[in-house]
Amino acid sequence: MKLSISLTINGQPQEIALDDPRVTLLDLLRERLHLTGTKKGCDRGQCGACTVLVDGRRINSCLSLAASLDGAQVTTIEGLAVGEALHPVQAAFIECDGFQCGFCTPGQIMSAVGLMAEGHAGDDPERVRELMSGNLCRCGAYQGITEAVLEAQRTVLEKGSDAA
Ligand code: FES
Ligand code: FES
Repeated sequence: MKLSISLTINGQPQEIALDDPRVTLLDLLRERLHLTGTKKGCDRGQCGACTVLVDGRRINSCLSLAASLDGAQVTTIEGLAVGEALHPVQAAFIECDGFQCGFCTPGQIMSAVGLMAEGHAGDDPERVRELMSGNLCRCGAYQGITEAVLEAQRTVLEKGSDAA
């Protein structure tokens, strides 16, 4: 039985026919829609490499059935930059050396964007580490990742106060 869902992916509304109702959001993104920035690490909710935003909240896309997301807004790493302008979190990861091999980086960045929207981290590195603990990095780039999240938060706050 074919099942059709509507998703808005990186701002683009799409009607998608699912051949298999068991397909995960991760496999849909990577294999059907060719949005391969979202990575498959463990495929069982343990590494965070597949993190995307659904309706603004960070989730592990490997644990989410696409069929359950009809009508949702999905943001992947491909949807963060605006033209040539990087998102502040992307820019901060580059500035703070928040990666080595880069495999975990899209998930780290999406998780950081979600964390900032949650607004719980403040400027406490320990709290940032805790709130990013669902995102593993085999290269151990944790210090740079934490600095990048703090730096991105400062940038966004400064921009907010400039705009005020
Ligand atoms: Fe989804 Fe590891 S691939 S949590
Ligand atoms: Fe290599 Fe994180 S940068 S796994």
